[in-house]
Amino acid sequence: MEKDKKNNFDEAAFQLFKELEKENKRIKDFLIDNYRGLPADPQIEEEAHEYFINNSVFFSAMAAQNASSLITEFLYERLPSKSILDNYALNSKAGRAIRARLIAVEDELHRVIDDYCTKGEVLIGNLGSGPGRDVIDVFSNYYQNSSNVKAVNIDKDVIALKRGKRMASIKKVDHLINFVQGSFLKYVPEKKFDIIILVGILCTLQSEVCISILKTIKGFLNKNGCLIASNVTNKMQEEDPFACYIMDWVANWRFVYKSEEELKKIFEQAGYQWKRGFTDSYGFHLIGVGTPMP
Ligand SMILES: C[S@@+](CC[C@H](N)C(=O)[O-])C[C@H]1O[C@@H](n2cnc3c(N)ncnc32)[C@H](O)[C@@H]1O
Repeated sequence: MEKDKKNNFDEAAFQLFKELEKENKRIKDFLIDNYRGLPADPQIEEEAHEYFINNSVFFSAMAAQNASSLITEFLYERLPSKSILDNYALNSKAGRAIRARLIAVEDELHRVIDDYCTKGEVLIGNLGSGPGRDVIDVFSNYYQNSSNVKAVNIDKDVIALKRGKRMASIKKVDHLINFVQGSFLKYVPEKKFDIIILVGILCTLQSEVCISILKTIKGFLNKNGCLIASNVTNKMQEEDPFACYIMDWVANWRFVYKSEEELKKIFEQAGYQWKRGFTDSYGFHLIGVGTPMP
């Protein structure tokens, strides 16, 4: 079983090995050996790390700050790159699944907003929003001329928020979105949210920490409100173990994969009623939908 998992490379990994074979065979051999758990020569490992940092926008950003929205935005935009490492990130199953998650979240958000719209005004809290591309896309596609739907994008990263303001202005929905800099855990809402989105936040956290976060943000949600929160599933590790290894090796980025049962339990222990769960088209991210229990 372990042997099978270790040989489970996706097409993007094979392409990367092919390119590295031409460009730097030592690094290719190091990656495969290290992935398989063989001891590493520190000199080769340092050479490989330096190569990743110096030849990839994606991996240098990841090494600097692993959960930065620079990473997610890079995978959402899919701009062409000359770097074999960046192309690996874009084409790996795990990389593609991040974009698939955005699409799945946007579809769900649109449905939920429409549901709440029938009851009047809708206020969305996008916590750890990065630029808030999900809200910006959905607003620009469906609610540009609506005055009923508003959002607050909250992130501690001021650069991500500045990007978000530009994106919102380009898509002509800036009048519908406020951008707030700071930790969402310390946010004091002027008005409670009808919908909270929490995407790309829980994935590295143990269940107890997730429960504590969900309990805190329950205080920001209307009693009939809706929480939409994502987490990586074990399928990512099973189907793209090499990408998981690379993230760990480059940036010490380790996920706490959670099943639907586990995410549901987190929701329930934090005081939410679990409504449903859905995944991105790869099944690598589970997105839970819940509502606060009285
Ligand atoms: C991986 S990105 C995901 C961004 C966005 N939610 C998405 O789905 O594309 C995680 C973001 O959460 C932000 N973040 C993490 N913890 C936070 C906190 N306690 N308060 C505010 N922002 C936070 C980071 O700055 C980063 O922009």
